[in-house]
Amino acid sequence: MKKLFIAVSFLSILFCGCNKNSSWQSFSKDKTIEQKVDSVLALMTLDEKIAQMTQFASNGEIITGPASESDVARYLREGTIGSVFNTVTVENNRTVQDAAMQNSRLKIPVLIGFDVIHGFRTIFPMPLAESCSWDLDLMRKTANIAAQEASSVGIHWTFAPMVDIARDARWGRVMEGAGEDPYLGSLIAQARVKGFQGESWESLKETNTILACAKHFAAYGAAEAGRDYNVAELSERTLHEIYLPPYKAANEAGVATYMTAFNEIGGVPCTGSKYLFTDLLRKDWGFGGFAVSDHTAVKELIAHGVAKDEKEAAALAVNAGVDMDMADGVYIENLKKAVEEGLVSESVIDNSVRRILEMKFILGLFDDPYRYLSEEREKSTLLKPEFLETARDAVRKSVVLLKNDNSYFPLDKNKGQTVALIGPMVKNQRSLNGEWAGRGNRNESVSLFDGLMEKYKDSKIRFVYAEGCDLITNDRSKFMQALSVARQADIILVAMGEDFNWSGEAACRTDIRLPGAQQELLKELKKLNKKVGLVLFNGRPLDLSWEHENIDAILEAWYPGTMAGHGVADVIAGDYNPSAKLTISFPRNVGQVPIYYNHKNTGRPVDPANPKVDYRSFYLDVDNSPLYSFGYGLSYTSFSINNLKLDKTSMTKGGSIVVTADVTNTGKYDGAEVVQLYIHDITASVTRPVKELKGFEKVSLKAGETKQVKFEVSEKNLMFYDLNMNYTAEPGAFKLWVASSSADETNEADFELE
Ligand code: NOJ
Repeated sequence: MKKLFIAVSFLSILFCGCNKNSSWQSFSKDKTIEQKVDSVLALMTLDEKIAQMTQFASNGEIITGPASESDVARYLREGTIGSVFNTVTVENNRTVQDAAMQNSRLKIPVLIGFDVIHGFRTIFPMPLAESCSWDLDLMRKTANIAAQEASSVGIHWTFAPMVDIARDARWGRVMEGAGEDPYLGSLIAQARVKGFQGESWESLKETNTILACAKHFAAYGAAEAGRDYNVAELSERTLHEIYLPPYKAANEAGVATYMTAFNEIGGVPCTGSKYLFTDLLRKDWGFGGFAVSDHTAVKELIAHGVAKDEKEAAALAVNAGVDMDMADGVYIENLKKAVEEGLVSESVIDNSVRRILEMKFILGLFDDPYRYLSEEREKSTLLKPEFLETARDAVRKSVVLLKNDNSYFPLDKNKGQTVALIGPMVKNQRSLNGEWAGRGNRNESVSLFDGLMEKYKDSKIRFVYAEGCDLITNDRSKFMQALSVARQADIILVAMGEDFNWSGEAACRTDIRLPGAQQELLKELKKLNKKVGLVLFNGRPLDLSWEHENIDAILEAWYPGTMAGHGVADVIAGDYNPSAKLTISFPRNVGQVPIYYNHKNTGRPVDPANPKVDYRSFYLDVDNSPLYSFGYGLSYTSFSINNLKLDKTSMTKGGSIVVTADVTNTGKYDGAEVVQLYIHDITASVTRPVKELKGFEKVSLKAGETKQVKFEVSEKNLMFYDLNMNYTAEPGAFKLWVASSSADETNEADFELE
């Protein structure tokens, strides 16, 4: 292999004497790398530069968006394009680099990308599920394992984390993010970025880390009516306060790349938004990495109606600050003309190419384009036993216990009884990984059935089984058999949910109840007058009002991934006491959506003690509150929070208040409680949410044990965008709660900012 300009190890130049600051901003001030990049740029023709700004999907088996109309095979063969995605084996990735090394003039290595969203080969619970663990270390660890696996096949770059705040359960992609809260979402964004990339940008010189990509910039989760790709109709204040913080936090954690969002905001499609990609991201936030469009999003500027043809679309996107064009070939086929006609200046192209080349230097690809590629590493890395153990742990920590009347769960191994396992998710493996499941093998995921059989093999429980119905259709032909199996049993355990294709991209729903005949089957089972428990495998908050009223216990298992059955069985058997809490509200019905805990009060709020007083902001048919609130989740034990104390009730700007409370495990099992701090700004120059999460601590407690939790409230916890959109804290009165969920107001205190 011949390399054009590698006389010395760039790595050694690159990483010696660099300062400890991990932001890309400080990195790009590294003169050495700037010079290297410039030396490459000086050799490049305009065509070669534009090719570097182009990314195509490989012609392989993985399809994650509309097919390109360009001659992709030819471009891949020529080896000049900057990036290829959806190629996922060492062998295929070697072919991609070979094309660049053997067929292109400059032999610039190719950046290989892939959607490594919740695992590569070992699949972890879907991101929304994992967020319910409130365990940042766990999320960093699973992202890191995903990076180890993906990089072992030669992938350099993941299109993750998805950090879009989501308040609408109809939207299929709620599964891919961290829920509805900007504070928690920001911390999770940072944990995931660090998990993929390592603690600082220096970690990227290792071959077991990958570039992360914060997406979809911006406010993709605000799709109107929960319909994917739809407009995000939101105020500037909501954009800044609710949707932007996780993207900003990702930058603070050193994220290397951003991806555009498909939607428009206020008439401006994000992929053509100079405000987003130049003014905000680069000028205000100091981002120094590069930005990629979403799949064919540059071309879609035509359908949006802001570009009349591909040339205009290319010019709009690149001038906005979108450096790389994913999948549609619009840059490679139009940008040169746009430059020649003066629509785009060559210096804009140069800047984009610089940013892309810089990443390739950082990864050491100029040093050795094949440095990630080793069949032995691929073999020894994928599905390592310790990765599977972490995956099992992640399942246990993500499962949310929504209801547990009369201690239905756990199912005691020593109790001699017959349990009827009924439902389409008992033996289903195919849906367990959920959407965006990398290279996870759907036939390998452990079914609930197999997990339970393993768990209870030496127990006194006898299981009987019937499928009862499928996940999608209204076919009731298997009801009779299921009911006769259920009749033989002492109690019934039902497993239901959504087919994995019913959530994820372009998978939105207007009816968010259990699909098909599933609820009908539950109704029939209920008539047998036995205790019924329900385990759910699904990708979004469902309307569970009927189930909540009628079923004894509900365990939300989401899409748990490879180790599904084992992790869920650990919880069912009581070998792990559930500790997860919802990070997204479950509505009472779809009519409440969008619904979120940090809503505004309105001028006519309801009085909770007297909710149906006329001319107030309420529904005639259901309560305003969600069925299950943000921050809610049960345990096999019980906790109480009390003794709330503030070290003072007034603080100055720059000062702080120390808040303490005791949390006690008042039940019989050891367990963990997520103690949450919420704050409300009572009067301000603009309306403020009824409460906002500002801190949390996950506390492990033995049965009977008490621990003190401590939060420090400072000015930064009280800041918001004031009337003039200045980010500030305004003096005045505040309330705070130390609580077990966003609905818990037992421990309340007042304080003041002077
Ligand atoms: C479209 C999706 O919106 C995006 O999240 C994903 O990274 C790309 N396709 C590539 O698969």
